[in-house]
Amino acid sequence: ITVNVDNTLAKVQPNMWGVFFEDINFGADGGIYAELIKNRSFEFAKPLMGWTVKRAKPNEGDLLVVNRKEVNTANPRYLQVNNNQEGLSITNEGFKGIGVKKGLRYDFSVMYRQSAAHVKLRLQLINAKNEVIAEGSLAPEKTGSEWHKQSVSFTATATEPKAKFSIAFEGKGKIDLDMISLFPGDTWKNRPQGLRADMVQLLADMKPGFIRFPGGCIVEGTDLANRYQWKKTIGPIENRQLLMNRWNVEFAHRPAPDYYQSFGLGFFEYFQLAEDIGSDALPILNCGMACQFNTGEVAAMDELDPYVQDALDLIEFANGDVTTKWGKMRADLGHPKPFNLKMMGVGNENWGPQYLERLAVFTKAIKAKYPDFKIINSSGTDPEGERFNLLNTSLRANNADFIDEHYYRPADWFLKNAGRYDNYPRNGSKVFVGEYAVHADKSLTGPDKSNWQSALASASLMTGLERNADVVQMASYAPLFAHVDAWQWAPDMIWVDNLESYGTPDYYVQKLFSTNKGTDVVPITLENKNIIGQDGLYASSVIDKNTKELIIKIANNADKSQDIAFNLNGKTRLKAKGTVEELANANLGQINTFQNPKAVSPQKSTVNVKDKKIKIALKPYSFTVIKVPF
Ligand code: AHR
Repeated sequence: ITVNVDNTLAKVQPNMWGVFFEDINFGADGGIYAELIKNRSFEFAKPLMGWTVKRAKPNEGDLLVVNRKEVNTANPRYLQVNNNQEGLSITNEGFKGIGVKKGLRYDFSVMYRQSAAHVKLRLQLINAKNEVIAEGSLAPEKTGSEWHKQSVSFTATATEPKAKFSIAFEGKGKIDLDMISLFPGDTWKNRPQGLRADMVQLLADMKPGFIRFPGGCIVEGTDLANRYQWKKTIGPIENRQLLMNRWNVEFAHRPAPDYYQSFGLGFFEYFQLAEDIGSDALPILNCGMACQFNTGEVAAMDELDPYVQDALDLIEFANGDVTTKWGKMRADLGHPKPFNLKMMGVGNENWGPQYLERLAVFTKAIKAKYPDFKIINSSGTDPEGERFNLLNTSLRANNADFIDEHYYRPADWFLKNAGRYDNYPRNGSKVFVGEYAVHADKSLTGPDKSNWQSALASASLMTGLERNADVVQMASYAPLFAHVDAWQWAPDMIWVDNLESYGTPDYYVQKLFSTNKGTDVVPITLENKNIIGQDGLYASSVIDKNTKELIIKIANNADKSQDIAFNLNGKTRLKAKGTVEELANANLGQINTFQNPKAVSPQKSTVNVKDKKIKIALKPYSFTVIKVPF
């Protein structure tokens, strides 16, 4: 194998390898958004879903869910407690139970309104054996007709993956309650009511070039009324109007009747998350079309203005200075500096003439105001079909900045398509592979697992994306997160339960690419040909002009070890020692688990460079990254 170290073929975009975030599989509510109380403001379709009520004897009117939708459309319901007997309590089951860690602080808060301060709240976290493992109390202090917020913290004495949270009412009297909230004290950057630190850390470790959000199909919604609207996701959390999650429907592989979006993780938090982990923000907005797999509802062309305005206002929200309406809003939310948004997607998986005509309106309006702003166009879900080809041709003819391709396919499709972009036009529209994942051989580990077969096939295809970095300028695996007790779609990159999280083999492949992205693609060939499946090998190579390194990536899909000699051609003087990170497993069905989270994870070693050659034995079924400084 020959690597030509001096010969730049293409530039690698600094944001080439990113992540795709969607609130699917309890990725946000019940996942990265660390709120532990399900249905905290009683807005689920069934107002007491997630709550059970205990009382000594039936007593009419002791608990009322009051609806004030005429005066508060964003947060219509609250709970009215008329505590006129002993033993009244409400208990929340959490999303799939509540994860509690011994020694950790828990932060409770509630909004309340009362005319006299008689009722106290006794707060308890209770484990599966019905033992109290954390306890606190809160005596709401303020009285009058206004709502107030009060907080109290307490510490857990034991660990429990599936606790419940109970509020017992003490003292006779009446009180209104809303936004009943409990957060762990170890959120990311210790932000109050923030994100789960372990999950964010897994992302931060990947150093992703961008974060695509908020989806996925939830952008589109089952119908337009249930589409994602970013303006409803910013500002005080009690004003963020809850929505049924689009994955709370029959179409989902595992319908979750209790799946709603509280938007505690809203657009401001997404931008903040992107900034925290050094990624570009890549929001995807609804283009006036609901999910074509569901209702397929479309906004009338003469009613598209609000949709387009949302896109224009989002750019102002992210980048405008404080003299602009939306720039001021961002500053008021605590971020006076712009977020430096450079791109957005218009539409998720939308297609057909309806899409093209709506997209044209968005593009004209956005480019008129922000000529350099990049717009990502959707190309649907069918990477080989006629629909894809027709749409792609039109998008290219219209000079789309980026075309978003999605593919969920078996491993052999990925291997066959590792050369997919070699013959794409080099000029004009660039490709964003916005969603992809190998759906691995069912006989190995079942259809729901990202195993070593799927990760190795992804890695093989990704060498083709990297080789074509002049055409494919961004890529993100999907979906990102899944909760073990609440997933609708699989495979997924990172699995979580209420306490822990781990990366699948695909996570480590993604991480190896994004932390070894380089700056320039250089040729790597076998007998003068790109390495696309000869002897089961797939390879790409980059140099990093910043860190001064040559980086070779090579996947061995053969069931045998292969001795490889890399000839390093060129004038660049390479150092005598390099490093190796290797993912390997003789069993393609190997998965990572909570018990063994690093079964497939990179092993480090070193390699010598002698006479401009590297000799290495590639393990059977392996993916290897070799780095040599110069
Ligand atoms: O990633 C899961 C889903 O797959 C996304 O929501 C959608 O865009 C695609 O069909």
